[in-house]
Amino acid sequence: MKTRYFSYLELESAGKLLQAAELVAFPTETVFGLGANALNAAAVKKIFVAKGRPSDNPLIVHVADFEQLSMIARDVPPVANLLMQRFWPGPLTIVLPKQPEVSEHVCAGLDTVAVRIPNHSIALELIRHAGFPLAAPSANRSGRPSATTWQAVAEDLDGLIAGLVCGEPTQFGLESTVVDAIANPPRILRPGGVSLEQLQEVCPEIEPYAPCATSSHENAVNSPGLKYRHYKPTARVIVVSAATTDSEFALAIEATSAVDYVGISTPRNPARYRSILICSNVSEYAAKLFDFFRKADLSHVDVVCCEAVDDMGIGVALLDRLRRASQ
Ligand code: TXA
Ligand code: MG
Repeated sequence: MKTRYFSYLELESAGKLLQAAELVAFPTETVFGLGANALNAAAVKKIFVAKGRPSDNPLIVHVADFEQLSMIARDVPPVANLLMQRFWPGPLTIVLPKQPEVSEHVCAGLDTVAVRIPNHSIALELIRHAGFPLAAPSANRSGRPSATTWQAVAEDLDGLIAGLVCGEPTQFGLESTVVDAIANPPRILRPGGVSLEQLQEVCPEIEPYAPCATSSHENAVNSPGLKYRHYKPTARVIVVSAATTDSEFALAIEATSAVDYVGISTPRNPARYRSILICSNVSEYAAKLFDFFRKADLSHVDVVCCEAVDDMGIGVALLDRLRRASQ
């Protein structure tokens, strides 16, 4: 299949591809998404084929407004309404009871649906041109780092999808926070662009993300995506901190390895690294991590060293991605 590339001025044509049950990738404020008509089973099935995604991993549905929300979700709990008022449009995905019209492939057989309004003018305009909600996982081959630039989408999916709307690199660079709003109290299933501290302002009782529980059966069933391998470059990823000693470092890395480094402070032995990226803060680090992973792979590096960050704010999501990438 020949992939068509669109600019933000060609969203009507991109919308027509979606109406023809084809796949179109597009930018959001978190990462690029791979969109299909959420109400059309044949279209949604193509997402799983193009990504190589296991069919029991459900998709996030992107809507442009509250009218579209009512097409896909029902019985919205009051706490979910509060979260929507405060964080939509934005990087917060809320799990709700689903409407029967939503393709069962979107929800992987669950009776719930994960939904968000993205805070990105191209994404919103594309949904409006299409005229229906878009099921859209991150636009990468399954297991790879999410795509934060249109070039990264092309690297993974050129020839496998009908269209790609190009745009600027994404703002957050990490995916949305996923909150189960049916649970009482609500709980964070995946940390992301909206932090625990921000969520607590609206919902003080919210249950924090519990990384240790993610491999448990219960959590794997509630958010099936958590049990899969994620965000990994081909290079080995190791997470280092100020506490990592030189001998620990030497043990982790062979003398001949080509090693890259990314973090917010200068590493102890800068000469040891082939390429170094120092970011000015944790948000910039989060925004650039996946692109750094992909560049490391293109230059055939053996190891990527990533500096650990404080376990707060966006740092929780960043540490989660680092931990998964290093497993
Ligand atoms: O920022 C994002 O969330 C991006 C952009 C494109 O919106 N999308 C994204 O989608 O990261 P994906 O498919 O890579 O991750 C979706 C996550 C998975 O962990 C999946 O298991 C979970 O959301 N999920 C989807 N539907 C669910 C449901 N009904 N119940 C629980 N978890 C669900
Ligand atoms: Mg993904």
